[in-house]
Amino acid sequence: MLLSPDQKAAFDRDGYLFFPGHFSGAEIALLNAEVPALYARREAYNVREKGRDAVRTNFAAHLYSAPFARLARHPRMVRPVQELLGEKLYMHQFKINGKMAFEGDVWQWHQDFGTWTNDDRMPEPRAMNIAVYLDDVNEFNGPLMFIPGSHKQGVLEAGHDLKTTSYPLWTIDNALITRLVERAGGKNGGIVAPQGPAGSMLVFHSCLVHASTSNLSPWNRVSVYLSLCAVSNHIRRFKRPEYIAHRDFTPIECLGDDCLLRQSPVELPWAQGMPASALQTSLEEIAVAA
Ligand code: SIN
Ligand code: MN
Repeated sequence: MLLSPDQKAAFDRDGYLFFPGHFSGAEIALLNAEVPALYARREAYNVREKGRDAVRTNFAAHLYSAPFARLARHPRMVRPVQELLGEKLYMHQFKINGKMAFEGDVWQWHQDFGTWTNDDRMPEPRAMNIAVYLDDVNEFNGPLMFIPGSHKQGVLEAGHDLKTTSYPLWTIDNALITRLVERAGGKNGGIVAPQGPAGSMLVFHSCLVHASTSNLSPWNRVSVYLSLCAVSNHIRRFKRPEYIAHRDFTPIECLGDDCLLRQSPVELPWAQGMPASALQTSLEEIAVAA
C-alpha cells in the first residue's frame, strides 16, 4: 500500500492530498531544463495567454520530450492514483502550465470532470489530476486554490466560458462558489492553496472545485499536470484534438523510481511532429465493445 489509511481518509474528506518536496532538486532541474525550448515551439499544442506570447499551457510533451515521457510513467505519480482508483490508468491529458511571471492569467473556478464529461463524454469521475511543481509555489505566484470537500457535490452546473481566457473551460458561477466556500468553512478553511517548494506533488479529485488567480509576481509558477483516467472509463468521443484529450487507452506501465536521473529509454511517437490525425475532431460517439 502506498497511501496510509489516514491519507485515504483525508483524500475522501477533502478531495486532495499534498506531498511537499516529493521530487528532488536534481529531478526537477532535468524537467525544468526542457521547458523553454518546448514553450518556444510554434505549434498548436502550445496555447498562449490571450493577446500575449507567454505560454499558458503546453500539451502532450510526454509524446515528444524524453524527460516528460519518463515523468508520465513515474511510479511516484502514477501509483497513488492507481491505488485511489483501483484500476490500471491511461493518460487522458498531459500539460505543462506556465503561469509565467507577470503574464500568467487566471483559471476560473471549475471542476475538471465538468469539461471531461461535457466535451469528451468521459462516463464517470474515475480520473484525476496529479501535479508536480517545477517552481516554488507561494501566495504571490497564483497557487492553485481548492474548496475542500467540494468533490462530494458531484457534477455541478457549469457554463462554457469561451471568452475570459485563451482556453475554453466549463466554469461555475459566483453564487454557487460563494455557497460552496461557506459550506467548507468560509474564512476558516473554505479555500485552501497548497504552497511548497519545487518538487511538491498534489493529487486532486476530478470533481474538486478549483481555480487560480493571475501571476503578478516576478516568479514563474510552472507546474506539470497528469490527468490519469481508469482504462474502463475512457472517453467516448473525440470532440477535442488529440493533443488535448488523448485517444490511446493503453494502460501505463511504470518505469523505475530513478527513471528521471537514469534517463531510462522511452518511446517518443510525436518526436518528428504531431500526426495530422491528432487535429481531427468529431461529435460522433465512438463504438465501445460490450
Ligand atoms: C487547471 O485547472 O487545469 C489548471 C489550473 C492552474 O494551473 O492553476
Ligand atoms: Mn482544472
